[in-house]
Amino acid sequence: MDFQKPGIVHRATLKNALQLTLRHGGADDAEALLAYINQIAGESENVTFGPGEFEMSVEDERTYLQQIIASPSSLYLIAEIEDEIAGTLSFTTGKRPRMHHAGEFGISVLRKYWNLGIGSHLLTYLIAWARHNDTIRKINLRVRVDNLPAIHVYESHGFVQEGRNTREFYLHGQFVDTYLMGLQLDPAAGADKQRASTS
Ligand SMILES: CC(C)(COP(=O)(O)OP(=O)(O)OC[C@H]1O[C@@H](n2cnc3c(N)ncnc32)[C@H](O)[C@@H]1OP(=O)(O)O)[C@@H](O)C(=O)NCCC(=O)NCCS
Repeated sequence: MDFQKPGIVHRATLKNALQLTLRHGGADDAEALLAYINQIAGESENVTFGPGEFEMSVEDERTYLQQIIASPSSLYLIAEIEDEIAGTLSFTTGKRPRMHHAGEFGISVLRKYWNLGIGSHLLTYLIAWARHNDTIRKINLRVRVDNLPAIHVYESHGFVQEGRNTREFYLHGQFVDTYLMGLQLDPAAGADKQRASTS
């Protein structure tokens, strides 16, 4: 796997034989990403915004993507099929030293491509990239307690439930709780000692 930004970092063949490409997003993706975000907003009630609620201008999105590219501990990953954005995963850590080792991610896939393994490819890349990074030691996420496909993908990549936020979502007159899930990343046994002895 390639961890360099920007550019293509991974290729795979999906269950239905479509070719998947993973690449780091850049400022030039701003417009297409906003169109993608508006589409997924209308396809799933498991994201935190509905259609038209994302409210970011193309210029704001460009600036955000530039910041992600410039930050070694942030990631904006785009999954593409035949030049169409099929899914995304974004991850950022806290800025201050005490919070810098931990970050949270959000993930989505276009509905027509669900259950083909794209979510799993995005997550596999995030974990490998975070392990390759010197500072990241914890990956967090929040997921609606009734989002069973997402919980299944997270658990199959080693994430565990760490807590529950009540009333995190409100829609159709109902509150919905979320699970807090996390994955701890630690160097292989002896790696810290080895790093200390070579520094
Ligand atoms: C969650 C999401 C990103 C998963 O992406 P995906 O590309 O469909 O994921 P994958 O194909 O890699 O894996 C889906 C898994 O869920 C499983 N699954 C599907 N329906 C399920 C259900 N009702 N209960 C449990 N597991 C289910 C599939 O069998 C598959 O597991 P497998 O690979 O072990 O067979 C996608 O469904 C999505 O974008 N949802 C809307 C937005 C969202 O929920 N984002 C996450 C917010 S926390």
